[in-house]
Amino acid sequence: MDPVHSDFFAGGAGDERTVRANTAAFERHWIVPRVLRATGDRDLRTTLFGTTAEAPILVAPTAFHLLAHPGGEAETARGAAQAGTVMVVSMAATQPVERIAAAGGPLWFQIYPQPDLAFTEHVVKRAEVAGCRALVVTVDSPVLGRRERDLRNGFLDLPAGLACENMRDDTGRVRPVAMDAALGWDRLAWLRGVTGLPIVVKGILHPDDARLAVEHGADGVIVSNHGGRQLDGAVATVDALPAVVHAVGGRIPVLVDGGIRRGTDVLVALALGAVAVLVGRPVVWALADRGAHGVRDELRKLTAELDHAMALAGAKRPADLTPDLVVTR
Ligand code: FNR
Repeated sequence: MDPVHSDFFAGGAGDERTVRANTAAFERHWIVPRVLRATGDRDLRTTLFGTTAEAPILVAPTAFHLLAHPGGEAETARGAAQAGTVMVVSMAATQPVERIAAAGGPLWFQIYPQPDLAFTEHVVKRAEVAGCRALVVTVDSPVLGRRERDLRNGFLDLPAGLACENMRDDTGRVRPVAMDAALGWDRLAWLRGVTGLPIVVKGILHPDDARLAVEHGADGVIVSNHGGRQLDGAVATVDALPAVVHAVGGRIPVLVDGGIRRGTDVLVALALGAVAVLVGRPVVWALADRGAHGVRDELRKLTAELDHAMALAGAKRPADLTPDLVVTR
């Protein structure tokens, strides 16, 4: 891959403290396994908003897949479908959602709510018509994070010929993906009026925001710091997770992403109360390496690792993973 592009995928904001913290925090979590629990017939399948995935491991929305592989997002979708899981398509995807949907599914669609409401509605409707089954609303980006690798590399825009294809308006013009610092909670209610899809709020770290998300009608929340690409110094997601789970109190599902690299990381996240995790960079690297097969194999590897760790920790299904199975040191 062009080093400028691999820097874009790998990098984060500022000193990349939060990028490192996401993985380092898992290193501080230890599993306290149970024994003699007859874990012979394990079942990892997980149902979210009516869609059943082979395992509670989803593909996080990430931008610009055509920079990683000539097959782009459609290639990722094919790999995720082969692994039997959900891909969240980014609003900054480089292929039309219709084309991605034709390659595989199930899909969810991620948006940054745009200042232009009519245009936001247009994008949401398009994703809905293409068959996306949930709307992921990213709320951690009132402004873009300062990604110093990109600034140093002068990577400010897609190369000629590539575009955020789902940002086309009625005239066919591609609008830039805008960050909206004026965004408030009222926009969730507005989105609720625009779409019948389940709404999943992505980018929650504070338990009070988790409570507000529930009160404003969210159907799910994703504990996320955007893979350390927005606020450098933001808390590691696995450290933020327990308080969010407590605040939500089982009313809606809590998902988490950031730094998940092994099945044991997934086990820890599920034990701390997440119903599923999402994986960002590992999927991009797998896509760049071997296209759909790479994505499929990466997801299958994580699933096999989770299955193995569950057997060793005395869990038959994700619901058997409880907080007493984890200590932090
Ligand atoms: C992202 N992420 C992201 N999130 C989002 O809501 N919309 C987006 O377009 C993007 N784009 C994006 C690009 C790249 C290159 C990365 C690495 C990340 C954040 C992503 O959904 C997720 O929160 C993190 O990637 C999870 O962390 P890991 O698994 O990469 O450590």
